Amino acid sequence: MTIRDEPNPAPEGRVGTGHTRAKAILVGEHAVVYGEPAIALPLASLPMRATARREDGPLTLESVLYSGTLADAPEVLAAPRAAIEATLDHLGLPHHGITLSTESTIPAARGLGSSAATAGALAHALADLVGRTLTPQEHFDLVQVGERVAHGNPSGLDARTTASTEPVWFQAGEIRSLDLALRAHLVVADTGVHGRTRVAVADVRSFRDRHPARGAELVAALGQITRDTVDDLALDRPQDLGARMTRAHGMLAELGVSSPELDRLVGAALAAGALGAKLTGGGQGGCMLALAADATSAGTIAAALRRAGAARTWLHRTDARRPAPPAQVSLG
Ligand code: MEV
Repeated sequence: MTIRDEPNPAPEGRVGTGHTRAKAILVGEHAVVYGEPAIALPLASLPMRATARREDGPLTLESVLYSGTLADAPEVLAAPRAAIEATLDHLGLPHHGITLSTESTIPAARGLGSSAATAGALAHALADLVGRTLTPQEHFDLVQVGERVAHGNPSGLDARTTASTEPVWFQAGEIRSLDLALRAHLVVADTGVHGRTRVAVADVRSFRDRHPARGAELVAALGQITRDTVDDLALDRPQDLGARMTRAHGMLAELGVSSPELDRLVGAALAAGALGAKLTGGGQGGCMLALAADATSAGTIAAALRRAGAARTWLHRTDARRPAPPAQVSLG
């Protein structure tokens, strides 16, 4: 029997759906790879919706980045592709006769978790296509297959946060929820330059090899910033959090993961009245975050960031809570 003759267990006419969202790391990126904690926020304003439907022919993907057979997808989709293939194997589905699609405005390769969000939403859509709901652990394991392709040694923070609807404390693969009383606004700004998580993670490793004592000190200090941030969030201390964010940016820059564009936007945000600012995610391009005391200040900072060259900005309230979309509802 050739693969094309295998029966396709996906019911005809049914459409499976999956939902995830972008994420922003508030504090702890890179240090989290070495076992330190991190705090990350799902960005409800940047949702990802995926569908899977049975359709004769090769396995196909329709997305803003690429539409065509999955086998010919460009390098930028290598991570979701690996996760999709692992999901098909996990669910006992054939690698043909299915059309996948994603709808999202999450920019790719900008440190906002687009590859984990894409992989996760598609994994859920495939499971839903055959009437299954992935457990959080199944979701995590499948997305991690892709994230390992993306940068070798992923902490799992992106896999967990893009599946969450609440801000999370993350350490060693596990998440817990946070007590969040902080009433502030975050401005997320895109440098317009692709982030380079794989290179940045490798550069931090090389920094630690070349300067073991300083490398360990910086990673530990970033971990301590994350621990102290817990109280800032619980006790509504935006000034303290802002100062910690700016300190974290300096440490990440010393580790080699900032860029001239990120430094320029951090400087512009602080000059426009931000309580603090830092890069977010893998760095060496991608996005940065600025903390604003209120909505007016957030608007001023966002305008200043755009004048300083930001390609796009998004506003996020730290106390924003959105209900999860209905869990994996089938449209079919
Ligand atoms: C990437 O979003 C975050 C990093 O800490 C890498 C990881 O956690 O796997 C840079």
